[in-house]
Amino acid sequence: MGNAARRYQEDVHSPTEVANPEAYPPRVVKSYPDAPRHPLPWPPEKSGHRLGRLLADLGGITRSQWLTPLDMLPFTDSFEAIPDDDPLQWLVTRRPTPSGGARYSAEWYVIAGPDSEVPTGVHYYDPARHDLVRLRSGDYRSWVASRPAATVLVQTNVFWRLAAKYGEMYYRLACLEAGIQVAQALVVAGDANATARLCFPDADVTELLGLDPREEGVHSVVELVPPVPSAFGGPSLAAFPRAFGAHAAVLAQSRPGPEPLPAEPAGEAERIGLPHARPDLAAGTRTRHAAMRGFSGEVMSIDALATILTAYGQQARWDLPADLVEFYCVIADVAGIPAGAYRYLPGEHQLELVSEGDPRQRLRDAALAALTQQGARTANVWLLPVGDADAAEERFGDRWYRVQQAAAGAALHRACLAAASIDVASRIQNDVLTHLLDAWFGLTGRKRTLLMAHFGTEHPAGQRPEFRLTW
Ligand SMILES: Cc1cc2nc3c(=O)[nH]c(=O)nc-3n(C[C@H](O)[C@H](O)[C@H](O)COP(=O)(O)O)c2cc1C
Repeated sequence: MGNAARRYQEDVHSPTEVANPEAYPPRVVKSYPDAPRHPLPWPPEKSGHRLGRLLADLGGITRSQWLTPLDMLPFTDSFEAIPDDDPLQWLVTRRPTPSGGARYSAEWYVIAGPDSEVPTGVHYYDPARHDLVRLRSGDYRSWVASRPAATVLVQTNVFWRLAAKYGEMYYRLACLEAGIQVAQALVVAGDANATARLCFPDADVTELLGLDPREEGVHSVVELVPPVPSAFGGPSLAAFPRAFGAHAAVLAQSRPGPEPLPAEPAGEAERIGLPHARPDLAAGTRTRHAAMRGFSGEVMSIDALATILTAYGQQARWDLPADLVEFYCVIADVAGIPAGAYRYLPGEHQLELVSEGDPRQRLRDAALAALTQQGARTANVWLLPVGDADAAEERFGDRWYRVQQAAAGAALHRACLAAASIDVASRIQNDVLTHLLDAWFGLTGRKRTLLMAHFGTEHPAGQRPEFRLTW
């Protein structure tokens, strides 16, 4: 097995120098000048076109914000890095999903069959025009589908959009964002019975989309199998459990779920039970945004914590094991929970103590930018998924790094959606030297902390003028 991903994980903790940033065009939307287009109804939420709405909720340009150079100061730490040659530079468009540096490098393609709501073929979703660009006109689903899907969505990442800002770190962000995109797709797909795959024949799918695999990676596939008209329901078979058990065993064998990774024996550490919570992730997609000014430092309720953690540890409907990452978190000023580092156990819905004591200084030491350091002082909960490279490599071969990062990104995005649904603010941060926290968490071997998001009551000066462009 190659060790390129091993070296990458151990060496690249922060952005690397980009010698010629001017060589990268500022475009964040593709264009296919000569290809035929298929319009989607606008505004998406007012039409009955479910696929159009799904695409807008996934990759659409749905928000605009007006920012000033002062808003950018906590990210850049000086006015030096702020260009002033374009008077409109502070009008920014945003999308439903977060994106590293707002580079919006994720793209969506649509592989439609005859039962899809759009013409059969292979299309690019153009978020600027909210329409589909037709790239091929045949039924190509057999190259991408593992289920009888009417439509398959394929998510890619245009690497150079990230590389222009982050250098070598582009690949880490591309992999994290695949998880975020998939998590969002599974939430906004509603009743389309969606499942996702991160393990598929990459080379074939890349060829199908006509992409150069060195420039744009194909990262995930989402299959939509909408329901057929319902038949008259028969009586319950609950009275005959043995017969049903025999039948269900065959069904399970015909479509096995992902096997968990080998489990370590349960530890002796102290545990805290959490109240039951039912996060509404779909509601969260309406208001989720990255907190711009940090948090107010107010105490968080244990119910809010339980809602965030339930979404964090939820199993996605995809081909990766639920325990591909472990759900570490750090807590301060949550009513009823002593400050410290914990591991959240989703099956038990309990917190296991990892390290006691106020975590703020440790988090601050690991944070690079002013905004992140402020978050270390003022947030209440920091989620830090942890992955075991050995176990992942054993299962996924060279794909281990990619799927582990995706699992981390998805877990944090689910938590951000749950938080938004209960008015708790959040921000995903990659500018944290997470490896500095590994020893504190007691991680051994090739277990590593992968990414961080913080959560709390939004700072009163945090809300920026924002216009919803679709809803
Ligand atoms: C993988 C990832 C890494 C991010 N890292 C940082 C970061 O290091 N610092 C930061 O201030 N924001 C970070 N963000 C937040 C983005 O800047 C934010 O999502 C983007 O500006 C879009 O704004 P929105 O989330 O409000 O839609 C990150 C987001 C993602 C998805």
